[in-house]
Amino acid sequence: MKEHIILNNPENDIYKILVSEEQIQETVEKIAKKIDEDYAGKNLLLLCILKGSVVFFSDLMRKLTIPLEIDFMKVASYGRGYKTSGNVNIILDLQRENLEECDVLIIEDIIDSGKTLSALIGYLKIKGVRSVKTCTFLDKPCRRTVDFTPDYTGIVIESREDDEDKDKYVVGYGLDYNEKYRELPYVGLLKPSVYLGK
Ligand code: IMP
Ligand code: MG
Repeated sequence: MKEHIILNNPENDIYKILVSEEQIQETVEKIAKKIDEDYAGKNLLLLCILKGSVVFFSDLMRKLTIPLEIDFMKVASYGRGYKTSGNVNIILDLQRENLEECDVLIIEDIIDSGKTLSALIGYLKIKGVRSVKTCTFLDKPCRRTVDFTPDYTGIVIESREDDEDKDKYVVGYGLDYNEKYRELPYVGLLKPSVYLGK
């Protein structure tokens, strides 16, 4: 029985911790301080993009001291490398009405190609929001296929062509691989054997 539990421990699939729990808390505090300053006197609507952002989102909202409202959206995620038109498929739309009163701040877990966030910004503008900005916990700027820069970034994941793990697929702190590993309290690099199936 014990052996079974150890074999299924998700931590066995992580080979390196990229962002520790301490680093996560420091990063969230830094971002919260900036948002507190920038959104003072505004009508902040913090918009969580499900599911990956949920852990960052709940940490961040509790560090903010200004009044805010929260809302949620879920968008379809396309497989890695899948070519899309840049349109996002909305699975769950936000509920807030009278968006012309709202200064929306989209909260993402990670930006890769940039397609999800650029499409979402376009969508929210059409919906008539007063303003829209973006905040991401992680950013992989070297993987962009569209020109996109977030307004608030936690940690940038750099990658060089000659890196042995240049794809740097990360999990934990809300991020998944096939719906697993979201519960890990840190951001870790997944062993390539897991996603290459070896
Ligand atoms: P994009 O910026 O539109 O390509 O999409 C970003 C989304 O891809 C994120 O919200 C994640 O769901 C997913 N994603 C990209 N890179 C990773 C990763 O390294 N780990 C987990 N999810 C990822
Ligand atoms: Mg996501």
